[in-house]
Amino acid sequence: MRAVPVAALAVLLGILLVWINSDTGDSQAQCRMAPDGETERDMARFKAENHSAFVVGYTGEIGKALVRDLSKLQIFKRVVLMGRRQVELDVGPGIEQKIVNFDKLDEHADLFTGLDVGFCCLGTTRGKAGKEGFVKVDRDYVLATARVSKAQGCRQFGLISSTGADVNSFMLYSKTKGEAEAGVTQIGFERLSIYRPGALLCKREEFRLGERILYVLLAPVFYLFPTSLSIPVESVARAMVNHVVAPLGGSGPQTSIYFNKETHEASGLHPRGCAK
Ligand SMILES: NC(=O)c1ccc[n+]([C@@H]2O[C@H](COP(=O)([O-])OP(=O)(O)OC[C@H]3O[C@@H](n4cnc5c(N)ncnc54)[C@H](OP(=O)(O)O)[C@@H]3O)[C@@H](O)[C@H]2O)c1
Ligand SMILES: *[C@@H]1O[C@H](CO)[C@@H](O)[C@H](O)[C@H]1NC(C)=O
Repeated sequence: MRAVPVAALAVLLGILLVWINSDTGDSQAQCRMAPDGETERDMARFKAENHSAFVVGYTGEIGKALVRDLSKLQIFKRVVLMGRRQVELDVGPGIEQKIVNFDKLDEHADLFTGLDVGFCCLGTTRGKAGKEGFVKVDRDYVLATARVSKAQGCRQFGLISSTGADVNSFMLYSKTKGEAEAGVTQIGFERLSIYRPGALLCKREEFRLGERILYVLLAPVFYLFPTSLSIPVESVARAMVNHVVAPLGGSGPQTSIYFNKETHEASGLHPRGCAK
């Protein structure tokens, strides 16, 4: 029975690394790391083109990181955050909040007028919403958002999916994510970027016991191989931004899928992330 001491060691190492990682002194600088020259030029050009965007799921962990980034980068003329509830926000100019009913999104179609870029960071868990609730949010609300926004002229769509997304999976989570991806792909955005991140690194407001335990156990892997299984939410957000500002090809709909490692690379940020 070697498993017990190995597991105990892993837990200890995990605790140690979580502790090391909580010392963020040095990583503050990496967080402010500027985009590289090419991305910076893309951002400047994009900004001069007066684009507008919407974000759904902006109160979630990826969504909040994205809103912070958009607030800081100021590349959109207008950003409309659409959610089911009003929240306090500390955001820059041009960012507004609208309350919508995702069950009747067609009734809010006018809100999407003139928004040529969409970011979808929606999602829930089976534990929180039940089986049907999970499918409703992670597939149906995602598809409704894509459909209504496209009808109003949205050209680019960024979709947060997950590692393992697969329409043929026997697991509800992976299957639902796969169905959402397939459905949005059908809609035909000029550019669709699908992200399949692994474990999200963030200071999650909601307490999820299973996730906390898993994260402590996997902390050594997250630390030693930072692009393998995990990704900071800031990196996912920045990857979305970088893809949106890149020039559009214009040769019919383009769909790209970015796995965990590719999302790290696209972000241009340090793989171990940074504190806020
Ligand atoms: N957690 C992970 O490690 C992980 C890994 C891979 C992929 N993902 C995926 O990444 C995506 C974003 O994850 P996250 O952790 O940033 O999400 P999150 O913190 O759970 O936030 C989810 C967002 O969706 C909204 N939402 C949930 N249920 C809703 C409903 N019934 N009606 C309207 N809005 C609703 C939430 O709004 P409220 O604030 O109003 O609830 C929130 O803005 C999800 O699709 C998730 O499956 C997560
Ligand atoms: C963008 O908006 C600015 C200020 O309103 C305007 O001067 C400029 O001509 C616009 N650019 C484009 C490409 O529409």
